Amino acid sequence: MDDSIPSGLLKEWKIGDNKLKKFTSVEDVNDIDALVKKALAYKVNPLKDATLGINKRIGLLFLNPSLRTRLSTQIAARNLGMEAIVFNVDKEGWQLEFEDGVVMSGNTSEHIKDAGPVLGSYFDILCIRTFPQLVNREDDYSELFINAFVRYCGRPVISLESATLHPLQSLTDVTTITEILQAKPLGRKPKIVLTWAPHIKPLPQCVANSFSQWMNAWKGTGEFVIAHPENYQLAEQFTKGATITTNQDEALKDADFVYVKNWSTYEDYGKIYENDPAWMLSLDKLKTTNDARVMHCLPVRRNVELSDDVLDSSHSIVTQEAANRVWAAQAVISELLK
Ligand code: CP
Repeated sequence: MDDSIPSGLLKEWKIGDNKLKKFTSVEDVNDIDALVKKALAYKVNPLKDATLGINKRIGLLFLNPSLRTRLSTQIAARNLGMEAIVFNVDKEGWQLEFEDGVVMSGNTSEHIKDAGPVLGSYFDILCIRTFPQLVNREDDYSELFINAFVRYCGRPVISLESATLHPLQSLTDVTTITEILQAKPLGRKPKIVLTWAPHIKPLPQCVANSFSQWMNAWKGTGEFVIAHPENYQLAEQFTKGATITTNQDEALKDADFVYVKNWSTYEDYGKIYENDPAWMLSLDKLKTTNDARVMHCLPVRRNVELSDDVLDSSHSIVTQEAANRVWAAQAVISELLK
């Protein structure tokens, strides 16, 4: 272990009868910068803790599709010596019920109250991806699924993206910004802009919520601006502290980092009100920025959210960002193994 990085970077919570650590939100993190430092140390030396997870198993449960999250988390676990098992619950498992006290006469076959402890008996760490339904805002924003999972499995849980947040992505994003600034210091804290972009489908607010939550919590943030069309405001619980504008051009001025993401409406929940291509980030729009680096969590719809001329330019750091998913996941898993 690297003695220069303190341990205990994740909080311990009382969950049911257990005291457990989890990684479902920035609120589970004691020290963002130390966790980032740990992720970057794994990038330099991926196998430095190759025996930490020996004889331990991590379960990755997917109720929704994934490329980066499923592969990077498996690689991270294996770098720590763990056995990683992926279970596509949506396609291969019984349909799970998460609500307490329901009469299970519908489509769900197994309650998380029963499945959770079974999964907990098979694995040392459990991870789950469970997207929002985008039908009922109260249901999604109560985080019913992941909270029930945490409560009933009795093991440390990592969110692989829940109904409202994507913390592994956000830790990666802070890690990537830190890495860029370490290579080329600005001499000041960066101006970071999150801008809405068009999309053909109504998407969750998770990535935007989570990025906002982490930017507002991170000491490295200078100015944090969110730009979106009218009626696309995100939940205040995540954005409080940010400057919010409906003027994208104004927001982009002097930006050092531009994070591009679509999300569906929050107030009139889960709708597409706006698909104006003028909101797509193009090379021309970056002229007023401070030679901004452009980020996106991927997958990205080319020439809908982001133009080819941005994605194929030196502004884009989306591949570096996606590659860093491994090191962020490795930092989190190693904390949970302790
Ligand atoms: N960014 C991200 O979470 O990618 P995947 O959906 O492919 O896992």
